[in-house]
Amino acid sequence: MCGIVGYIGSKRAADIVIDGLKKLEYRGYDSAGVGLIENGKLEIIKKKGRVVNTEESIPKTFNGGVAIGHTRWATHGVPSDNNSHPHRSESIAVVHNGIIENYAVLKKELEEEGILFQSETDTEVIPHLIKSAISHSMSDIHKKKREACYLHAVLMAIKKLKGSYALAILNSDFPDTIVCVKKGSPLVVSKSESSVFVASDVEVASSHGKNVYILEDDEMVLLRSDEVSFFDMNGREKEKDPMEYISNESADGFAGNPHYMLKEIKEIPQAIHETAKSVENCFLKLPKWKLNKLKKIIIVGCGTAYHAGLSAKTILETHTGIPVANEIASEFRYSNPIIDKNTLVILVSQSGETADTIAALDIAKKKKALTLAVVNNATSALAMEADCKITTRAGKEIAVASTKAYNSQLVALYSFALYLSVVLRKINSQKARELKSKIMETTSISRQVIEMGLDKIDKTIIDIFKNEKAVMFLGRGVDYATAAEASLKLKEISYIHCESYPAGELKHGTIALIEEGYLVVAYLTDSLLKDKTLNALYEVKARGAKVFAITNQELPKDAYDYIYHVPSIGIFSPITSIIPMQIISYFTAIAKDYDPDKPRNLAKSVTVE
Ligand code: M6R
Repeated sequence: MCGIVGYIGSKRAADIVIDGLKKLEYRGYDSAGVGLIENGKLEIIKKKGRVVNTEESIPKTFNGGVAIGHTRWATHGVPSDNNSHPHRSESIAVVHNGIIENYAVLKKELEEEGILFQSETDTEVIPHLIKSAISHSMSDIHKKKREACYLHAVLMAIKKLKGSYALAILNSDFPDTIVCVKKGSPLVVSKSESSVFVASDVEVASSHGKNVYILEDDEMVLLRSDEVSFFDMNGREKEKDPMEYISNESADGFAGNPHYMLKEIKEIPQAIHETAKSVENCFLKLPKWKLNKLKKIIIVGCGTAYHAGLSAKTILETHTGIPVANEIASEFRYSNPIIDKNTLVILVSQSGETADTIAALDIAKKKKALTLAVVNNATSALAMEADCKITTRAGKEIAVASTKAYNSQLVALYSFALYLSVVLRKINSQKARELKSKIMETTSISRQVIEMGLDKIDKTIIDIFKNEKAVMFLGRGVDYATAAEASLKLKEISYIHCESYPAGELKHGTIALIEEGYLVVAYLTDSLLKDKTLNALYEVKARGAKVFAITNQELPKDAYDYIYHVPSIGIFSPITSIIPMQIISYFTAIAKDYDPDKPRNLAKSVTVE
């Protein structure tokens, strides 16, 4: 998704902003741009493609100390130089992350005022609205200070916008300032002695100063090199204290790996260990009296996070006796859900910034449900706004395809199921401890599975996958959740069409796709459902499919063409049984010459609807 940076200070702003944009590249983007104040004049350099294209186009003579920058992930209008940000209206330049939903109406009104638009974007309405608001408030200019007038104009413009926005605004009439506004999309300001920096990401912001201000919705901030002032949407100045953010990320980049995805797969054991160890502290802060009254649990998420919720449903239901439903956040937010104060809504998200998941949180809060965020980014909007939170300790995940965050989400959710069952007196603490030690064991087991995978997943296995046009993933119960996640992993980085189905549902339509040579990947780790999944394997084999089985069970030889063994850890097997497909997906993308860290069309954090 789009990324924003801005800098005011004594150093060459172009260098700092470009460096910030490079750090935000992991979010996914298709073009980049920079706006600078050079000798009092606004200059804009923006290019389709990589940040380096913009970097190479910035004149070496531009040495000013104020700049904003942007990586764009196209929503309105194709990726092009023109549609790249910043967008400008005379002296004003704006970079934007989010979507302006009413831009068509606003654009029409502005065009009627005679304004000519240069791009197809929704964003371009913003600088024109600000410019127009400044012109309209000119009559007041004698009464107000010029700068207050400018801030007032920004607020007037903002009030016309519907949608989500993180904005950084540059105005060459106020060359020592950057104005930022936030609603819906993330923005973090950091301050050091002689400079301020703003970015979409706390890690990137904190690389310029440990004192960070995490902006809340409906906040405006005026940045100067030595001062940061906050305002509400009525223009009233407000106090805001910085928090100290010490990154626990090592600056070791790929740590000797060719890609982040491989590095992050290798970090799974540590992610599991850290999460399993620390979740108990999170549980201590949960309101037991509310948990005791729960009648329903809904787990909400998108993509991988949704699959983690699917995987946790059975354990939660069997151990707590409370019915659990899984919801895709983008569906849940418009479903008028039947929930109340006796419902627990668990929102799962690696980034904690996914727009649909945040909207789902809002709905759940409006309906008075108890909300619990399971997040990897502890300073994210989701983490800050939910009633309570469990932090997964996967460490920063940069590759677009989620790996270690998923394993940690399973650890957090399964551990929570055990905790809740003790609170509800469904199992005693002794039993919970025994089960928890099984979860802890997945640290060393995952290490073995990774070592074995990196050793065993060779050309022979990758050749099974790499030339396929389509792959079907099957499983039942928790194995279906793992199959769904495995399918997502392979499709998002190898661009092979993948479908996932509960094995028993196949014969109700989807089996029509099966023909000679079709590749079916089947998960069979649940001993109770193994025989049922085997039936589906015989059915697809009878129609010519090749079966690649991933299992911790003994299977009849005629049920598969290739068998991949994973260790059994009973109900916790999904924590590690996903790993072979994470590795296979990675090497399939490599074999097809695709960059697994930056798959086409995808962004790491989906901060727009
Ligand atoms: O940051 P989140 O966990 O909320 O992100 C949700 C999905 O966008 C994310 O899991 C996505 O599906 C990944 N690309 C999967 O690898």
